[in-house]
Amino acid sequence: MSFITKVILVTGGNKGIGYAIVRNLALSYASLSSSQPLTILLTARNPALGQNSADKLHEELKPKNVLTDDGGIVDLKFLSLDITDEQSIKDVKKVIEKDYGGLDVLINNAAIAFKGNAFDVNVVRTTFATNFYGTLNLINHFYPLIRPNGRIVNVSSSAGGLHIVNKALGQEFSKEDLDMDGLIELMKRFEDAVEKDTYKQEGWPRQAYGVSKLGVTTMTRILARRADKEGNNIKVFSCCPGWVKTDMAGERAPLTPDQGAKIPVLLALDENIVIQNPNGSFLKDKNSEL
Ligand SMILES: NC(=O)c1ccc[n+]([C@@H]2O[C@H](COP(=O)([O-])OP(=O)(O)OC[C@H]3O[C@@H](n4cnc5c(N)ncnc54)[C@H](OP(=O)(O)O)[C@@H]3O)[C@@H](O)[C@H]2O)c1
Repeated sequence: MSFITKVILVTGGNKGIGYAIVRNLALSYASLSSSQPLTILLTARNPALGQNSADKLHEELKPKNVLTDDGGIVDLKFLSLDITDEQSIKDVKKVIEKDYGGLDVLINNAAIAFKGNAFDVNVVRTTFATNFYGTLNLINHFYPLIRPNGRIVNVSSSAGGLHIVNKALGQEFSKEDLDMDGLIELMKRFEDAVEKDTYKQEGWPRQAYGVSKLGVTTMTRILARRADKEGNNIKVFSCCPGWVKTDMAGERAPLTPDQGAKIPVLLALDENIVIQNPNGSFLKDKNSEL
C-alpha cells in the first residue's frame, strides 16, 4: 500500500495556540506550490472539545477553499489524544500506522501551567507529567513513525531558558553528551529537591512550569543529536510562541494565537528555516515579548 498524503499531527489542538497552529498550517500549506495532499490531525484530550474545534475550523476555513470538503488539498481530521495516557497514545499510533503509514511532522503543543503562586512537589509532578514526561513518552512512541526528512516541533517557552537555574546546573543541562537518561535524572533531582525543600540551595528556581520547559528544550537537542547520528534527516526544533493571549497566559498577553502560531508553523513547513538553523535549535520571534 502506498501513502501519498503528507501528515502533520498537532497535540492540544482544541484551543489557544494549538488551534491557531492547525488553522495556519492549513492556510500556509494551501498557499505553497506543492500539490501533494496534506492531512492535519488535530488532536485533543477531550473528545467533545476536540471534535467541536475541528467542526469550527471546517466552518471558518470554508470561504478559503483549502480543505478537501471545499475543493482544497488539506484534509482536517480530529483524533482523541491525551499525552499523559499510554493507551491513548498507543491507539493513535495504530490509527496513523494503518491509515497513513507514518508521520511527516509532529507538533508537541499540549501543556499545562498552574495559575498563581502554587508550588510544591505535587505541582512539580503534575506539571512534569504533562509537559515533560507526556511529551517525551509521545515522542518515544511516535519517533519510529516519522518519515525521513520529517520534523518534530516542540512548543517550549523562553520561561524555560538556562537563566532560571544556577551556572553549575546550566552547564549540566547544556552538556554536549547529555543523553535522555541524564536529562531525566536532572528532572528527578529537581523533584527531590522540591520535596526536601533544598531546591534554592541547589540552584533551582521556584518554578515547575519553567523547569518543565527547560526539560523540553533540552530534550529537543538530545533528540536532534540522535537523529543526526541516525542520518535520517529528521529535524527537531523547539520554540517559544511569545506571550500569547490564551487560557494559559491570560488577557494581559499582547499577542494573538495566530501570532503565536507563526514560528511553530514555519518550523513545520518552511524549507529555509531548516537550512538556516542547526538541528536542535530553539527559535523565538524577535517580537515575541518573552
Ligand atoms: N500562551 C503563552 O503566552 C505561551 C508562552 C510560551 C509558551 N506557551 C506554550 O504554548 C503551548 C500552548 O499553550 P496555550 O497558551 O495555547 O495554552 P492553553 O490555551 O491552555 O492550551 C493548552 C492545550 O493543551 C491541552 N492539553 C493539556 N494537557 C493535555 C494532555 N494531557 N493531553 C492533550 N492535550 C492536553 C489543552 O487541552 P484542554 O483544553 O483539554 O485543557 C489545550 O488544548 C504550550 O506548550 C505552552 O506551554 C504558551
